[in-house]
Amino acid sequence: MLAATVARFSPDSPLDGLEVGERPEPEPRENWTTVRVRAASLNHHDLWSLRGVGLRAEQLPMILGTDAAGVAADGAPVLVHGVIGADGHGVGPDERRTLLSEKYPGTLAELVAVPIHNLVPLPDDLPFEEAACLPTAWLTAYRMLFGAAGLAPGDRVLVQGAGGGVATAAIVLGAAAGLEVTVTSRSAERRERALALGAAHAVETGARVPDRVDAVIESVGQATWAHSVRSVRPGGTVVVCGATSGDAPPAELSRVFFNEIRVQGVTMGSRDDLAALVRFVARTGVRPVIDSAVPLARVRDGVARLAAGEQTGKIVVLP
Ligand SMILES: NC(=O)c1ccc[n+]([C@@H]2O[C@H](COP(=O)([O-])OP(=O)(O)OC[C@H]3O[C@@H](n4cnc5c(N)ncnc54)[C@H](OP(=O)(O)O)[C@@H]3O)[C@@H](O)[C@H]2O)c1
Repeated sequence: MLAATVARFSPDSPLDGLEVGERPEPEPRENWTTVRVRAASLNHHDLWSLRGVGLRAEQLPMILGTDAAGVAADGAPVLVHGVIGADGHGVGPDERRTLLSEKYPGTLAELVAVPIHNLVPLPDDLPFEEAACLPTAWLTAYRMLFGAAGLAPGDRVLVQGAGGGVATAAIVLGAAAGLEVTVTSRSAERRERALALGAAHAVETGARVPDRVDAVIESVGQATWAHSVRSVRPGGTVVVCGATSGDAPPAELSRVFFNEIRVQGVTMGSRDDLAALVRFVARTGVRPVIDSAVPLARVRDGVARLAAGEQTGKIVVLP
């Protein structure tokens, strides 16, 4: 089958280690099944993998990709929950949590094997291309907003780095839930786009926000951390899921303790969270923001766009 793999690590130039070619089909395992991938989507995680973060050399070549929508063995359309081992299903209770493409081959392929438990039924009116955006970036944003930050309609939220996959998801989901969403972005075009997606305010990266917010959705890291801590109200929450720009910010500890700010980490979400997100999308009619779509054979173009930070929303990959 055709698949996109990390062939070697390349910390400074992630595209150098990307290969697209024939790989063996997945082997059947007990309590696992195989999904024929109809659409997958790229995440910053794929760039980290190409740089060698979270993988060991002896695991190469590793098929990339953490999320997919496709057709199950019984012909049903499904969404793939990409977290393996968190609850023991299909791997045993002692296996530590990994994401697809970290221990088991990922979704940038014609076929992907996953525990049967990890399949979520897909509603008829959600196309594969849109569904494939949900299991990583959208799931994480959903859990950050409504789980970790515990936001309620009318609350204020700041979303850092408006163009990203997690960020566009947080804008759309937050606006649909009645939150007052403020965004930052380095790009005037992406600030405009965020307003069109439902944000109430858009400011340049690092600029003062109109009002202090109840929570911050932080995925950028070093470049925005101090601004996140300055922008949240006393007693508010900074929810962090990533550090795209680096992991060595000034921690702003004085502000954290003086203003009694809560810092909460999030990684992905549970299968039940993903099922709830699918219901949210079905009920509200909101849809993932798709930047572009590329065939699997030309996935390099999509990865290059992601690496250059040119996208607004998700880049979909079609096997
Ligand atoms: N913990 C989890 O489960 C989880 C899940 C999903 C993602 N993540 C992590 O979260 C991060 C975002 O993921 P993603 O897939 O949404 O990535 P993405 O689509 O590549 O978005 C990254 C965004 O960050 C902003 N950014 C990047 N460098 C910046 C800089 N130097 N200064 C200011 N802004 C900068 C950009 O926004 P603008 O250009 O608009 O400013 C960019 O669009 C990644 O680090 C990823 O690994 C973690």
